[in-house]
Amino acid sequence: MKEIYENARKLMKGYCRVCPECNGNACAGEVPGMGGLGTAAAFKENIKALHAIRLNMRLIHDVSEPDTAISLLGRQMALPLLAAPIGGVSFNMGGQVSEQAYIRAILNGCKEKGIMGCTGDGVPNFIHETGLAEIQALGGHGIAFIKPWADKELFEKIQKVRDTGTDTMGIDIDAAGLITLKQMGRPVFPRGIEKLRQIIQRSSMKFILKGVMTVKDANAAVEAGADAIVVSNHGGRVFEFTPGAASVLPAIADAVKGQVAILADGGVRSGGDVLKLLALGADAVMIGRPFCVAAVGGLQAGVESYIDKIRTELEQAMVLTGVKKASQVPGNIIFQSA
Ligand SMILES: Cc1cc2nc3c(=O)[nH]c(=O)nc-3n(C[C@H](O)[C@H](O)[C@H](O)COP(=O)(O)O)c2cc1C
Repeated sequence: MKEIYENARKLMKGYCRVCPECNGNACAGEVPGMGGLGTAAAFKENIKALHAIRLNMRLIHDVSEPDTAISLLGRQMALPLLAAPIGGVSFNMGGQVSEQAYIRAILNGCKEKGIMGCTGDGVPNFIHETGLAEIQALGGHGIAFIKPWADKELFEKIQKVRDTGTDTMGIDIDAAGLITLKQMGRPVFPRGIEKLRQIIQRSSMKFILKGVMTVKDANAAVEAGADAIVVSNHGGRVFEFTPGAASVLPAIADAVKGQVAILADGGVRSGGDVLKLLALGADAVMIGRPFCVAAVGGLQAGVESYIDKIRTELEQAMVLTGVKKASQVPGNIIFQSA
């Protein structure tokens, strides 16, 4: 990964410093860019919440070849991992690679390694259009996330997503906080349970609501008929004042585990972090910024190397905690001080 990081540092100059630890400190306030909003407090909360968790090391057991595979929304995946939806290479990452080269690297790298890549949405339109074209080119292997636009645009985009051949899509409901879009004359806003139910039904795809940070919203997502939620504060880019995703995940999992698939993201930087979120109740985990760095720095090969790195770390962490299956991670691997 060293060469990939060095290359990314050059290509992302002025947008991402490719820090030894991607923690929101150096890039605070850089939105657009790769940072967290304002003081980046919500980005940093994601990191802090994961750091605060310690795992019980256990080595008297017979787990030497842990099984990292899971089944998510009807798809078999080699790892409990997805590349989070991220778009806007030109204004977030410096534009030294094209939107197409970037998203192609993400989607192909993920497919090659048996996981799923997601595509993002925004202004200008080519962000989602490029993502959708690449999902279509891969025969529907990818999950498109669109923003909670006004109805006309929303339903047009849902149709376009369906046309790609994918069977799963999502809305990042937390993007309702992006006032910049409203300023560009492209309003985004929250919807109530009834309206969401109509949207989900009309989509006739498996549907993910991304940006759930409370038990109340998790229950509402179930009621609206979502197939999955992503416990996420959008990497700290929409609202400065939220807790970290890992802090709210246990209560949300208590409330809705088994009723919807639970994904979570924010600050995940290693296979150990993936295991922590699974132990807190997630069924699968998304990683955001580090995938961008890998894709810009090394295109598809960079993405594949990054997935290999996470896989190796996850396997090590599973062996060192005695976890046999990523699909059944017990909560009691988390260290509780007496
Ligand atoms: C530059 C950038 C652009 C993003 N664009 C989108 C997007 O279009 N749709 C979306 O659902 N989330 C978007 N996100 C949020 C990510 O999907 C994800 O929730 C977040 O990056 C996870 O945190 P992490 O980067 O600390 O892993 C974006 C994040 C970044 C950093």
